[in-house]
Amino acid sequence: MHLTQDRIIIRQPDDWHLHLRDGDALKTFVAPTSRVFRRAIVMPNLQPPITSIQSAIDYRERILDAVPEGDLFTPLMTAYLTDDLSVEVIREGFQRGVFFAAKLYPANSTTNSEAGVTTIENIYSVVETMEEIGMPLLIHGEVADHSIDIFDREAVFLESHLQPLLKRFPTLRVVLEHITTEEAVEYVQNSSASLAATITPHHLHINRNALFNGGLRSDLFCLPVAKRERHRIALRQAATSGEPCFFLGTDSAPHLREFKESSCGCAGIFNAPNAIESYAQVFEEEGALDQLEAFSSVFGPNFYGLPINEKRISLVKNPHIISSRFELVKADNPFEFIVPFHAGETLNWSFDPNFI
Ligand code: NCD
Ligand code: ZN
Repeated sequence: MHLTQDRIIIRQPDDWHLHLRDGDALKTFVAPTSRVFRRAIVMPNLQPPITSIQSAIDYRERILDAVPEGDLFTPLMTAYLTDDLSVEVIREGFQRGVFFAAKLYPANSTTNSEAGVTTIENIYSVVETMEEIGMPLLIHGEVADHSIDIFDREAVFLESHLQPLLKRFPTLRVVLEHITTEEAVEYVQNSSASLAATITPHHLHINRNALFNGGLRSDLFCLPVAKRERHRIALRQAATSGEPCFFLGTDSAPHLREFKESSCGCAGIFNAPNAIESYAQVFEEEGALDQLEAFSSVFGPNFYGLPINEKRISLVKNPHIISSRFELVKADNPFEFIVPFHAGETLNWSFDPNFI
Protein backbone atom coordinates (compact mmCIF):
# COMPACT_ATOMS: atom_id res chain seq x y z
CA MET A 1 0.00 0.00 0.00
CA HIS A 2 1.03 3.60 -0.54
CA LEU A 3 0.30 6.29 1.99
CA THR A 4 0.93 10.04 1.93
CA GLN A 5 -0.69 13.01 3.68
CA ASP A 6 -3.30 13.33 0.98
CA ARG A 7 -3.49 10.02 -0.87
CA ILE A 8 -4.03 6.38 0.03
CA ILE A 9 -3.46 3.62 -2.51
CA ILE A 10 -4.57 0.12 -1.54
CA ARG A 11 -5.35 -3.12 -3.27
CA GLN A 12 -8.95 -3.22 -4.38
CA PRO A 13 -11.13 -4.25 -1.43
CA ASP A 14 -13.98 -6.79 -1.27
CA ASP A 15 -17.17 -6.56 0.75
CA TRP A 16 -17.66 -9.80 2.66
CA HIS A 17 -21.25 -9.02 3.77
CA LEU A 18 -23.69 -7.12 1.58
CA HIS A 19 -27.44 -6.79 0.93
CA LEU A 20 -28.27 -5.91 -2.67
CA ARG A 21 -32.05 -6.56 -2.63
CA ASP A 22 -33.70 -7.41 -5.96
CA GLY A 23 -35.75 -6.21 -8.93
CA ASP A 24 -35.47 -2.66 -10.27
CA ALA A 25 -33.69 -1.65 -7.09
CA LEU A 26 -30.62 -3.66 -8.11
CA LYS A 27 -29.66 -0.92 -10.55
CA THR A 28 -29.50 1.44 -7.59
CA PHE A 29 -27.78 -0.83 -5.12
CA VAL A 30 -25.11 -2.64 -7.15
CA ALA A 31 -23.40 0.49 -8.52
CA PRO A 32 -22.13 2.09 -5.30
CA THR A 33 -20.49 -1.21 -4.35
CA SER A 34 -19.13 -2.27 -7.76
CA ARG A 35 -17.55 1.18 -8.19
CA VAL A 36 -15.12 0.39 -5.37
CA PHE A 37 -15.24 -3.30 -4.49
CA ARG A 38 -14.15 -6.21 -6.70
CA ARG A 39 -16.24 -8.96 -5.03
CA ALA A 40 -18.99 -9.15 -2.48
CA ILE A 41 -20.71 -11.89 -0.55
CA VAL A 42 -24.37 -11.27 -1.27
CA MET A 43 -26.85 -12.04 1.46
CA PRO A 44 -29.77 -14.33 0.59
CA ASN A 45 -32.51 -12.75 2.74
CA LEU A 46 -34.83 -11.86 -0.11
CA GLN A 47 -38.55 -12.55 -0.06
CA PRO A 48 -38.72 -15.45 -0.75
CA PRO A 49 -35.19 -16.26 0.41
CA ILE A 50 -32.53 -17.91 -1.76
CA THR A 51 -32.94 -21.57 -0.86
CA SER A 52 -32.39 -23.32 -4.19
CA ILE A 53 -29.49 -23.57 -6.61
CA GLN A 54 -31.59 -22.22 -9.45
CA SER A 55 -32.76 -19.18 -7.48
CA ALA A 56 -29.13 -18.34 -6.67
CA ILE A 57 -28.11 -18.70 -10.33
CA ASP A 58 -30.98 -16.44 -11.43
CA TYR A 59 -30.27 -13.88 -8.72
CA ARG A 60 -26.58 -13.79 -9.65
CA GLU A 61 -27.59 -13.18 -13.27
CA ARG A 62 -29.84 -10.27 -12.28
CA ILE A 63 -27.03 -8.76 -10.21
CA LEU A 64 -24.54 -9.09 -13.07
CA ASP A 65 -27.05 -7.43 -15.41
CA ALA A 66 -27.16 -4.47 -13.04
CA VAL A 67 -23.37 -3.92 -12.92
CA PRO A 68 -22.56 -0.62 -14.67
CA GLU A 69 -20.40 -0.85 -17.76
CA GLY A 70 -16.72 -0.60 -16.95
CA ASP A 71 -17.00 -2.11 -13.47
CA LEU A 72 -15.62 -5.58 -12.82
CA PHE A 73 -17.65 -7.13 -10.04
CA THR A 74 -18.16 -10.69 -8.85
CA PRO A 75 -21.13 -11.45 -6.60
CA LEU A 76 -20.52 -14.47 -4.38
CA MET A 77 -23.84 -16.13 -3.65
CA THR A 78 -25.10 -17.61 -0.40
CA ALA A 79 -27.73 -20.16 0.53
CA TYR A 80 -30.31 -19.21 3.17
CA LEU A 81 -30.46 -22.01 5.70
CA THR A 82 -33.89 -23.15 6.82
CA ASP A 83 -34.90 -25.97 9.14
CA ASP A 84 -35.33 -28.31 6.19
CA LEU A 85 -32.90 -27.24 3.47
CA SER A 86 -31.46 -30.52 2.21
CA VAL A 87 -27.89 -31.72 2.46
CA GLU A 88 -27.99 -32.48 -1.28
CA VAL A 89 -28.83 -28.89 -2.26
CA ILE A 90 -26.00 -27.56 -0.12
CA ARG A 91 -23.47 -30.07 -1.39
CA GLU A 92 -24.40 -29.72 -5.05
CA GLY A 93 -24.73 -25.92 -4.88
CA PHE A 94 -21.26 -25.62 -3.38
CA GLN A 95 -19.63 -28.15 -5.66
CA ARG A 96 -21.08 -26.48 -8.76
CA GLY A 97 -19.65 -23.15 -7.60
CA VAL A 98 -23.08 -21.54 -7.17
CA PHE A 99 -23.18 -21.28 -3.39
CA PHE A 100 -20.02 -19.74 -2.02
CA ALA A 101 -21.23 -20.08 1.56
CA ALA A 102 -24.41 -20.61 3.58
CA LYS A 103 -26.02 -18.10 5.91
CA LEU A 104 -27.55 -18.97 9.24
CA TYR A 105 -30.25 -16.59 10.42
CA PRO A 106 -31.81 -17.63 13.70
CA ALA A 107 -35.54 -17.43 12.87
CA ASN A 108 -36.98 -13.97 13.62
CA SER A 109 -33.65 -12.44 14.57
CA THR A 110 -33.55 -9.76 11.86
CA THR A 111 -34.98 -8.46 8.54
CA ASN A 112 -36.48 -11.30 6.45
CA SER A 113 -35.36 -14.02 8.82
CA GLU A 114 -38.81 -15.53 9.40
CA ALA A 115 -37.88 -18.62 7.37
CA GLY A 116 -34.57 -19.00 9.24
CA VAL A 117 -33.45 -21.75 11.56
CA THR A 118 -35.55 -22.33 14.68
CA THR A 119 -33.06 -24.62 16.47
CA ILE A 120 -29.48 -25.18 15.41
CA GLU A 121 -29.81 -28.93 15.99
CA ASN A 122 -32.21 -28.97 13.01
CA ILE A 123 -29.35 -28.20 10.63
CA TYR A 124 -26.66 -30.42 12.15
CA SER A 125 -26.57 -32.76 9.15
CA VAL A 126 -26.20 -29.80 6.77
CA VAL A 127 -23.46 -28.30 8.94
CA GLU A 128 -21.68 -31.65 9.08
CA THR A 129 -21.64 -31.71 5.28
CA MET A 130 -20.38 -28.14 5.14
CA GLU A 131 -17.51 -29.04 7.46
CA GLU A 132 -16.70 -32.04 5.28
CA ILE A 133 -16.67 -30.11 1.96
CA GLY A 134 -15.06 -26.94 3.39
CA MET A 135 -18.05 -24.66 2.83
CA PRO A 136 -18.07 -21.57 5.07
CA LEU A 137 -20.95 -20.97 7.47
CA LEU A 138 -21.85 -17.30 7.91
CA ILE A 139 -23.71 -16.55 11.11
CA HIS A 140 -26.04 -13.80 12.25
CA GLY A 141 -24.92 -14.22 15.83
CA GLU A 142 -27.89 -13.22 17.94
CA VAL A 143 -30.41 -15.26 19.85
CA ALA A 144 -33.95 -14.55 18.73
CA ASP A 145 -35.33 -15.11 22.22
CA HIS A 146 -37.25 -11.95 23.05
CA SER A 147 -36.98 -12.58 26.77
CA ILE A 148 -33.25 -11.84 26.41
CA ASP A 149 -32.41 -8.14 26.46
CA ILE A 150 -31.74 -6.94 22.91
CA PHE A 151 -28.33 -5.57 23.93
CA ASP A 152 -27.31 -8.99 25.27
CA ARG A 153 -28.44 -11.16 22.38
CA GLU A 154 -25.05 -11.41 20.72
CA ALA A 155 -23.12 -12.23 23.89
CA VAL A 156 -25.71 -14.87 24.85
CA PHE A 157 -25.50 -16.40 21.37
CA LEU A 158 -21.75 -16.93 21.72
CA GLU A 159 -22.13 -19.04 24.81
CA SER A 160 -25.37 -20.81 24.20
CA HIS A 161 -25.15 -21.48 20.45
CA LEU A 162 -21.75 -20.78 18.92
CA GLN A 163 -19.69 -22.52 21.56
CA PRO A 164 -21.52 -25.87 21.27
CA LEU A 165 -21.53 -25.61 17.47
CA LEU A 166 -17.77 -25.08 17.22
CA LYS A 167 -17.19 -27.85 19.73
CA ARG A 168 -19.19 -30.29 17.68
CA PHE A 169 -17.71 -29.18 14.33
CA PRO A 170 -14.14 -28.13 15.17
CA THR A 171 -12.88 -27.74 11.59
CA LEU A 172 -15.98 -25.94 10.26
CA ARG A 173 -15.08 -22.56 8.73
CA VAL A 174 -17.25 -19.94 10.37
CA VAL A 175 -17.65 -16.18 10.01
CA LEU A 176 -19.41 -14.37 12.79
CA GLU A 177 -20.98 -11.54 10.85
CA HIS A 178 -21.17 -7.88 11.89
CA ILE A 179 -19.86 -8.30 15.43
CA THR A 180 -20.89 -5.59 17.87
CA THR A 181 -19.47 -6.49 21.28
CA GLU A 182 -16.24 -6.74 23.22
CA GLU A 183 -17.29 -10.30 24.07
CA ALA A 184 -17.40 -11.23 20.37
CA VAL A 185 -14.00 -9.61 19.74
CA GLU A 186 -12.44 -11.64 22.54
CA TYR A 187 -14.23 -14.79 21.53
CA VAL A 188 -12.91 -14.61 17.97
CA GLN A 189 -9.39 -13.68 19.10
CA ASN A 190 -9.28 -16.70 21.38
CA SER A 191 -10.66 -19.19 18.87
CA SER A 192 -8.93 -21.18 16.17
CA ALA A 193 -8.11 -19.77 12.73
CA SER A 194 -11.26 -21.37 11.31
CA LEU A 195 -13.34 -18.64 12.99
CA ALA A 196 -13.28 -15.04 11.73
CA ALA A 197 -15.54 -11.98 12.03
CA THR A 198 -16.65 -9.09 9.87
CA ILE A 199 -16.98 -5.57 11.23
CA THR A 200 -19.25 -2.88 9.72
CA PRO A 201 -18.41 0.81 9.34
CA HIS A 202 -21.41 1.87 11.40
CA HIS A 203 -20.49 -0.21 14.44
CA LEU A 204 -17.07 1.47 14.35
CA HIS A 205 -18.63 4.94 14.29
CA ILE A 206 -21.69 4.86 16.51
CA ASN A 207 -22.69 3.57 19.88
CA ARG A 208 -26.26 3.12 21.09
CA ASN A 209 -26.62 6.75 22.14
CA ALA A 210 -26.66 7.72 18.46
CA LEU A 211 -30.07 6.04 18.14
CA PHE A 212 -31.60 8.48 20.58
CA ASN A 213 -29.67 11.65 19.83
CA GLY A 214 -32.29 14.41 20.20
CA GLY A 215 -35.06 12.03 19.13
CA LEU A 216 -35.52 8.60 17.64
CA ARG A 217 -32.95 8.12 14.83
CA SER A 218 -34.38 5.31 12.76
CA ASP A 219 -31.66 5.69 10.12
CA LEU A 220 -29.17 4.37 12.65
CA PHE A 221 -31.22 1.34 13.64
CA CYS A 222 -29.76 -1.95 12.46
CA LEU A 223 -29.34 -5.44 13.79
CA PRO A 224 -27.38 -6.35 15.75
CA VAL A 225 -28.16 -2.98 17.32
CA ALA A 226 -25.24 -0.68 18.22
CA LYS A 227 -24.03 -1.24 21.80
CA ARG A 228 -22.30 0.76 24.55
CA GLU A 229 -19.20 2.85 23.96
CA ARG A 230 -16.85 0.24 25.44
CA HIS A 231 -17.93 -2.16 22.70
CA ARG A 232 -17.34 0.38 19.96
CA ILE A 233 -13.85 0.96 21.32
CA ALA A 234 -13.15 -2.78 21.33
CA LEU A 235 -14.35 -3.05 17.72
CA ARG A 236 -12.12 -0.18 16.62
CA GLN A 237 -9.14 -1.83 18.28
CA ALA A 238 -9.96 -5.15 16.64
CA ALA A 239 -10.42 -3.71 13.15
CA THR A 240 -7.19 -1.73 13.27
CA SER A 241 -5.17 -4.37 15.14
CA GLY A 242 -3.74 -6.15 12.11
CA GLU A 243 -5.19 -9.44 13.34
CA PRO A 244 -6.23 -11.54 10.34
CA CYS A 245 -9.42 -12.82 12.01
CA PHE A 246 -11.12 -9.42 11.53
CA PHE A 247 -12.03 -8.11 8.10
CA LEU A 248 -14.34 -5.84 6.16
CA GLY A 249 -18.06 -6.57 5.75
CA THR A 250 -20.28 -3.53 5.41
CA ASP A 251 -23.69 -5.12 6.06
CA SER A 252 -24.98 -2.28 3.90
CA ALA A 253 -28.74 -2.89 4.07
CA PRO A 254 -30.90 -0.34 2.23
CA HIS A 255 -34.52 0.35 3.20
CA LEU A 256 -36.61 3.09 1.63
CA ARG A 257 -37.16 6.17 3.75
CA GLU A 258 -40.83 5.38 4.27
CA PHE A 259 -40.04 1.94 5.74
CA LYS A 260 -37.37 3.31 8.07
CA GLU A 261 -39.70 6.07 9.27
CA SER A 262 -42.78 3.95 9.96
CA SER A 263 -43.92 3.24 13.50
CA CYS A 264 -42.21 -0.15 13.18
CA GLY A 265 -39.12 0.87 11.23
CA CYS A 266 -36.93 -1.69 9.43
CA ALA A 267 -33.48 -2.63 10.68
CA GLY A 268 -30.62 -1.83 8.31
CA ILE A 269 -28.14 0.95 7.53
CA PHE A 270 -27.25 1.85 3.94
CA ASN A 271 -23.53 2.60 3.99
CA ALA A 272 -22.45 1.38 0.51
CA PRO A 273 -22.07 4.85 -1.10
CA ASN A 274 -19.40 5.87 1.44
CA ALA A 275 -18.22 2.59 2.89
CA ILE A 276 -14.50 2.66 2.12
CA GLU A 277 -14.34 6.36 3.06
CA SER A 278 -16.09 5.58 6.34
CA TYR A 279 -13.60 2.85 7.23
CA ALA A 280 -10.68 5.11 6.19
CA GLN A 281 -11.92 7.75 8.60
CA VAL A 282 -11.86 5.29 11.48
CA PHE A 283 -8.39 4.01 10.62
CA GLU A 284 -7.14 7.58 10.36
CA GLU A 285 -8.65 8.52 13.73
CA GLU A 286 -7.00 5.47 15.26
CA GLY A 287 -3.61 6.36 13.70
CA ALA A 288 -3.73 3.07 11.83
CA LEU A 289 -4.12 3.94 8.15
CA ASP A 290 -1.25 1.54 7.48
CA GLN A 291 -3.60 -1.31 8.54
CA LEU A 292 -6.46 -0.32 6.23
CA GLU A 293 -5.37 -2.43 3.27
CA ALA A 294 -4.96 -5.62 5.29
CA PHE A 295 -8.43 -5.24 6.81
CA SER A 296 -10.16 -4.26 3.55
CA SER A 297 -8.32 -6.25 0.93
CA VAL A 298 -6.11 -9.01 2.34
CA PHE A 299 -7.50 -10.81 5.40
CA GLY A 300 -10.85 -11.60 3.77
CA PRO A 301 -9.45 -13.30 0.65
CA ASN A 302 -6.90 -15.12 2.81
CA PHE A 303 -9.63 -16.51 5.04
CA TYR A 304 -11.79 -17.56 2.10
CA GLY A 305 -8.86 -18.98 0.12
CA LEU A 306 -9.30 -16.54 -2.77
CA PRO A 307 -6.62 -14.53 -4.56
CA ILE A 308 -5.92 -11.00 -3.33
CA ASN A 309 -6.98 -8.41 -5.90
CA GLU A 310 -4.18 -7.13 -8.12
CA LYS A 311 -5.80 -3.83 -9.03
CA ARG A 312 -5.34 -0.80 -6.76
CA ILE A 313 -7.85 1.86 -5.78
CA SER A 314 -7.10 5.26 -4.35
CA LEU A 315 -8.62 7.63 -1.83
CA VAL A 316 -7.75 11.32 -1.74
CA LYS A 317 -7.93 13.69 1.21
CA ASN A 318 -10.97 15.81 0.48
CA PRO A 319 -13.23 16.68 3.41
CA HIS A 320 -16.76 16.65 1.97
CA ILE A 321 -20.32 16.61 3.26
CA ILE A 322 -22.31 13.44 2.63
CA SER A 323 -25.62 13.96 0.89
CA SER A 324 -28.74 13.18 2.89
CA ARG A 325 -30.59 11.54 0.01
CA PHE A 326 -29.64 8.64 -2.19
CA GLU A 327 -32.11 8.51 -5.06
CA LEU A 328 -33.34 5.32 -6.64
CA VAL A 329 -32.42 4.89 -10.30
CA LYS A 330 -36.00 4.19 -11.35
CA ALA A 331 -38.03 5.83 -8.62
CA ASP A 332 -41.79 5.87 -9.20
CA ASN A 333 -42.25 8.86 -6.96
CA PRO A 334 -40.01 11.56 -5.48
CA PHE A 335 -40.42 10.16 -1.98
CA GLU A 336 -38.60 6.95 -2.89
CA PHE A 337 -35.11 7.49 -1.59
CA ILE A 338 -32.69 6.18 0.99
CA VAL A 339 -30.93 8.13 3.68
CA PRO A 340 -27.34 6.87 3.63
CA PHE A 341 -25.07 6.43 6.61
CA HIS A 342 -23.20 9.67 7.48
CA ALA A 343 -25.98 11.82 5.93
CA GLY A 344 -25.07 15.47 6.51
CA GLU A 345 -21.73 14.61 8.12
CA THR A 346 -18.23 15.32 6.83
CA LEU A 347 -15.91 12.53 5.75
CA ASN A 348 -12.23 13.29 5.12
CA TRP A 349 -11.39 10.88 2.32
CA SER A 350 -12.93 10.47 -1.15
CA PHE A 351 -12.71 7.54 -3.50
CA ASP A 352 -10.86 8.67 -6.64
CA PRO A 353 -12.78 7.34 -9.67
CA ASN A 354 -10.06 8.51 -12.07
CA PHE A 355 -7.23 6.55 -10.49
CA ILE A 356 -5.99 3.67 -12.63
C1 NCD B 1 -30.31 -6.57 7.37
C2 NCD B 1 -31.33 -6.35 6.25
O1 NCD B 1 -31.97 -5.30 6.23
O2 NCD B 1 -31.44 -7.22 5.36
N1 NCD B 1 -30.56 -5.63 8.41
C3 NCD B 1 -29.67 -5.21 9.35
O3 NCD B 1 -30.09 -4.47 10.25
N2 NCD B 1 -28.41 -5.55 9.33
C4 NCD B 1 -30.34 -7.98 7.85
C5 NCD B 1 -29.18 -8.36 8.72
O4 NCD B 1 -28.04 -8.46 8.26
O5 NCD B 1 -29.36 -8.53 9.93
ZN1 ZN C 1 -26.61 -8.33 6.96
